[in-house]
Amino acid sequence: MGQRVIEVPESMRASAQIDEATYRAWYEASVRDPAAFWGEHGRRIDWFKPYTEVQDTTFGPGKVSIRWFADGVTNAAHNCIDRHLATRGDQVAILWEGDDPAEARAITYRELHAEVCRMANVLRNRGVAKGDRVTLYMPMIPEAAFAMLACARLGAIHSVVFGGFSPDSLAGRIQGCGSRLVVTADEGLRGGRTVPLKANVDAALARLPADSVDHVVVVRRTGGAVAMEPGRDVYYDAAAREVTDTCPAVPVEAEHPLFLLYTSGSTGQPKGVVHTTGGYLVYAAMTHQYVFDHREGDVYWCTADVGWVTGHSYIVYGPLANGATTLMFEGIPTYPSVSRFWEVVDKHKVTIFYTAPTAIRSLMGAGDGPVRGTSRASLRVLGSVGEPINPEAWDWYHRVVGDGRCPIVDTWWQTETGGILITPLPGATRLKPGSATKPFFGVQPVVVDGENTVLEGACEGNLCLAASWPGQMRTVWGDHERFVQTYFSAFPGRYFSGDGCRRDADGDYWITGRVDDVINVSGHRMGTAEVESSLVAHPKVSEAAVVGYPHGVKGQGIYAYVTLMQGEAPSEGLRKELVAWVRKDIGPIAAPDLIQFAPGLPKTRSGKIMRRILRKIAEDEFSALGDTSTLAEPAVVDDLIENRQNRS
Ligand code: WT7
Repeated sequence: MGQRVIEVPESMRASAQIDEATYRAWYEASVRDPAAFWGEHGRRIDWFKPYTEVQDTTFGPGKVSIRWFADGVTNAAHNCIDRHLATRGDQVAILWEGDDPAEARAITYRELHAEVCRMANVLRNRGVAKGDRVTLYMPMIPEAAFAMLACARLGAIHSVVFGGFSPDSLAGRIQGCGSRLVVTADEGLRGGRTVPLKANVDAALARLPADSVDHVVVVRRTGGAVAMEPGRDVYYDAAAREVTDTCPAVPVEAEHPLFLLYTSGSTGQPKGVVHTTGGYLVYAAMTHQYVFDHREGDVYWCTADVGWVTGHSYIVYGPLANGATTLMFEGIPTYPSVSRFWEVVDKHKVTIFYTAPTAIRSLMGAGDGPVRGTSRASLRVLGSVGEPINPEAWDWYHRVVGDGRCPIVDTWWQTETGGILITPLPGATRLKPGSATKPFFGVQPVVVDGENTVLEGACEGNLCLAASWPGQMRTVWGDHERFVQTYFSAFPGRYFSGDGCRRDADGDYWITGRVDDVINVSGHRMGTAEVESSLVAHPKVSEAAVVGYPHGVKGQGIYAYVTLMQGEAPSEGLRKELVAWVRKDIGPIAAPDLIQFAPGLPKTRSGKIMRRILRKIAEDEFSALGDTSTLAEPAVVDDLIENRQNRS
C-alpha cells in the first residue's frame, strides 16, 4: 500500500509554476550556492534598505548563530498590506467565515490597511513600541490578524497564545516574555459554544504580580457580559473610535523579532520560539506560493488556528505577503453538521484547502455521504499538516474530498522551522500516500544514526537539517543556551528536529513521528513532562509518567501512569478529578485520555523510569517489552500489564 505512486496530473504539469525539471534545477542551485539562491529570492519582498549580506549562519559545535539578510531593513505589515494597495486595494484579503454559517465578512486590502492602522494606533497610544512584547489571546476573528499585523507595523513582537490554553498557561506565557499589554475578546464562539476568553485573562492576571500588565484591550465578539477593570481594561471599539486609520510602518532590521510562539518540548516548561522578520517572511511567502501552487484569483483556506504556527505562516504572513485571498474560519469541522468544511468550500469557491489528518480522520468516520452531497468543483490542491497522515486517511482525502483530481501536499515542518521543509510541489512531485516526499528549495535533510553518522541512500534514523534556511527560528526567548542545548547538542553541527524518518530508494522522506518525549495529539504538540508536572502537583499524586499511544482519530492519545500518595485509594471519581485537574491546569488539549493507577513505576536500579516499557504497555504491545533485566523491581511490570487501560 505504502509504495503506491500517484503521478502529477497532466493538467497540473502543463500549467505548473514549478515542474519537475524546474524543481531539480532550482533545488540543485539552492544547495550549491545558497547565498546566490536566497539573495535572488529574498527580493520577493520589499526592503526599505536592500540587504547586501545574505547568509551568516553557523550550527556549531560551539557557537550557534543564524542571521539572514542581516543588513536589510523592512517591515512585515508593509509587505502584507501596503505594497498591495496600488495593485489590489479592492481585492479581498481576508475572507472570514463565522461559526454560525449566516455570518461572514470580506475585508479588502484597503480595509485591512485601515483596520491594522487603527489597531496599531490603539496599541501605540497605550505605550507599545518597537521591541515590546504583546500577548494575543484571541478567537478566530479578523481582529486576531489585525492585532498581529498591528504589532508587526509597530515593530512590536506578538506572542499569540492559543485560546484553548488555561489561565495558568496564559499567565506563564505573559510573564515569560514580559508583555505589558494583552489583546483578547469578550468571548470566543466555537461550535455554538462560548469560550470565556476575557474571564481567563482576568484569572491569569490575578496570578501575576499586580503591576505586570498595564492594559487589556477587549474586542467585542459575542457581546457577552464581562468584568472590566477601570484603568486597565478597554473595549477595542471604544478605543478605535479615538484614533485615525493611518499609522506609518516602523522600519526594522531583518533580524528584528517578528513574533514569539510558545511550544512544548521534551523537558521543562514551554519555550518561546523566536522568529525574526526578513528571512521568516521570505520563506513563508515563497513556500506558500510554490507548495500550494498559489496563483492570482485563488481562494486559499487553511483551517488552522492562529494560535499555532500554521496559522501564523499560512493564514496570515505567507498568504498576505503574496497578496492572496486567505479564508479564516471561526468554527469547527462538525458544526452545524459534518458537511461544514465542504459547504464552506462551495460557498466561497475555495481552490486550495489545507487541513490536519486528525480532521480528515474524524470526518472520514462520518462516511462519504456528507462529502458527496457537496460539489467541491472549485478545489485544485489539498494539503495536510501536523502529523503523519495514514494511507487510509490519505486515500479518502484524495478519492472522496478531491474526487481523485487534486494533488495532496503532505507538508512536514515545525513551529521551529517557520515554514514547510519537506513536501511535494503540485506540478512537480509524484505522490506516495504517507510520504512527505522531497525537501523544499534550500532545505538539506540528513538522516543520522545514534552516533551522528550520516546515513546514505535508503535508510531510517533521526531527521536533522545540515544547514540553515531563512525561516528557521533564531533562539529561545531569553535563553539562547536552551536553544543550543535543545536543537544542536544531540547531533553536534546539525539541527535536530526531534522526529524520526525513513528515506526510501527514490529519496522520498517518510516521517515516522517524534523520537523524543513529545507527543502529537490531534496535530498539537504536548510535552509529556508538562503533563507529568501538572499531575504531581495534585495533592493525592506522588508520581506520574506520561506517554503517547496510538489513537484512531487523534493520532496519539495521552496515557498517564499515576502513583498515589500513601493512604490514597484509586477510584473512578479520582480518575475524573485528575483529568479535570490537568484540563484546568494546562488546557483541554493536555487532558489524559487514559489514566492507569500504578502501585509502582518500572525503574532502573539508579531510579530512572524506564519509559520504553511504559510506552509498550500503553500501546498494548507488552509481549515485546525487550530487555527488562535492569529493572529494580521486575514485579511492577506484571501489575502494569494486568491493569493496562488500552486493550486494542
Ligand atoms: C511536529 C511539529 C508545523 C505545523 C504544525 C505542527 C509533526 C508536522 C507533519 C507531517 C508527519 C508531521 C512532527 C513535527 N508533523 N507535520 N506532514 N508528517 N509529522 O507544528 O506543533 O511544532 O509540531 O509535528 O512530529 O516535529 P508543531
